[in-house]
Amino acid sequence: MKKRNFLKTSAIAASSVFIPKSLMSYEQSSKKLRTAHIGVGGMGFEDLNAISSHKNVEIVGLCDVDSEALVKSKLRFPNVKTYKDYRVMLNELSDKIDAVIVSTPDHTHAPAALMAMKKNKAVYCQKPLAHNVSEVREMRKIAEEKNLITQMGIQVHSFYDYKLATLLIQSGIVGRVSRVIAWSPKNWGYDGQNPKGVDPVPSNLDWNLWLGTAEKRPFKEKIYHPGNWRKLVDFGCGTLGDMGVHIFDTPYNALALDVPKRIRNKCRKPNGFGYPESNKVTYVFPGTSFTTEELEWIWYDGKGAPYSQKELRLPNKDKLPLQGAMFIGEKGRLLLPHFMQSPKLIVNGTYQKIDIKHYDPKGDLGPKLNDYKRDAPKHYHQFIDACLGIDKVSAPFSYSARLTETILLGVIAGRFPNKTLHWDSKKAQFKELEANVFLKGVERSF
Ligand SMILES: NC(=O)c1ccc[n+]([C@@H]2O[C@H](COP(=O)([O-])OP(=O)(O)OC[C@H]3O[C@@H](n4cnc5c(N)ncnc54)[C@H](O)[C@@H]3O)[C@@H](O)[C@H]2O)c1
Repeated sequence: MKKRNFLKTSAIAASSVFIPKSLMSYEQSSKKLRTAHIGVGGMGFEDLNAISSHKNVEIVGLCDVDSEALVKSKLRFPNVKTYKDYRVMLNELSDKIDAVIVSTPDHTHAPAALMAMKKNKAVYCQKPLAHNVSEVREMRKIAEEKNLITQMGIQVHSFYDYKLATLLIQSGIVGRVSRVIAWSPKNWGYDGQNPKGVDPVPSNLDWNLWLGTAEKRPFKEKIYHPGNWRKLVDFGCGTLGDMGVHIFDTPYNALALDVPKRIRNKCRKPNGFGYPESNKVTYVFPGTSFTTEELEWIWYDGKGAPYSQKELRLPNKDKLPLQGAMFIGEKGRLLLPHFMQSPKLIVNGTYQKIDIKHYDPKGDLGPKLNDYKRDAPKHYHQFIDACLGIDKVSAPFSYSARLTETILLGVIAGRFPNKTLHWDSKKAQFKELEANVFLKGVERSF
């Protein structure tokens, strides 16, 4: 029996059965999952296309603070109601939607997603889950308390090569892993001046709504919107929050890690405005059944790959992929390039053939497609199918909140260059009291 029907029948049979609230709302409403989208420019437009490519979806609401983004999405969905304030949309459409897609800059993820979750909506939220640790923990708590279906937007999580790498590591192909080294040459840092003066706000943009809960400030062209907010401490999460989340995901998942206990970031002095142009973050995680007693994890961004590291030398003097991760285990190394390339096993300085049939005899991983356009919707469709009760999400907030917290702890360590911070996950506090002030953000009423 399909899970949906099972839930329906058992709910009638036994009132104690706990049905996810988001599922209940779907059950009572319509044959289609009805979605509302917050942020439909940039990645939000991709998200809208991927979600709407599922045959059981009805797009009900579109929201953006930039009217140009709204016009573009309205051309695609002419009959859908549009809004510039997500609070108005969520209140007005509360009874007409089952799920909410959040694709705004990072600082708005939590305020928008939390409002939707408080209304018992399923939420697909772009990565990183939120802008600070306190928000991430609240999102996870509410999702779990209400048993809501949630998914973070790390679409490559559902790609073949990442699932294969997870399976290989968990099958012990390199034995217990003692170190992970991960890297990206991207640079979402900014060491320029905190801008002075003010530019006229473009007529298409509602600047107050864009700022949302962040502190009020004058608008400046090319500094914040679109996209450049990533570089700025009040809005984005730098390169860690941009590429880091994607590249961290597979090792983090494969090694079943929880949050780290020690974090150190080697980077330039903070300027209070933009993130460092390069970070070397060293994490120490408590061990798991797939690691040695402790796991050391090193992340490099901003510069090219750290070729000088002995553990990153490849057979035949091959060049390291531009971005990726290396698992270093007792029996060898596994290289996972980012992205859409097969993992490579290296033992005693030579590549070894991986007999995939041995690890995946029934072909559970599915076909090796590796076509981004064709594969990317899988992660979104998985979310929709989970809301419809016929699949399970693979990056729910219970998982992605921990992954994001790990990223954010590295970001906070960038405020204290070269200093080791000690994280007490139970208390959600650093031993270094001066770092605790960065766990929470501003909550301006707007
Ligand atoms: N998963 C991926 O591969 C991937 C790729 C790119 C971006 N992202 C994520 O998507 C999010 C958006 O990034 P982007 O590059 O599209 O940024 P962007 O600045 O280009 O676009 C953000 C959009 O959201 C709108 N917006 C801003 N505040 C809003 C609000 N309060 N309410 C409604 N709309 C609002 C903006 O007007 C704009 O249209 C980020 O969290 C980013 O990390 C994910």
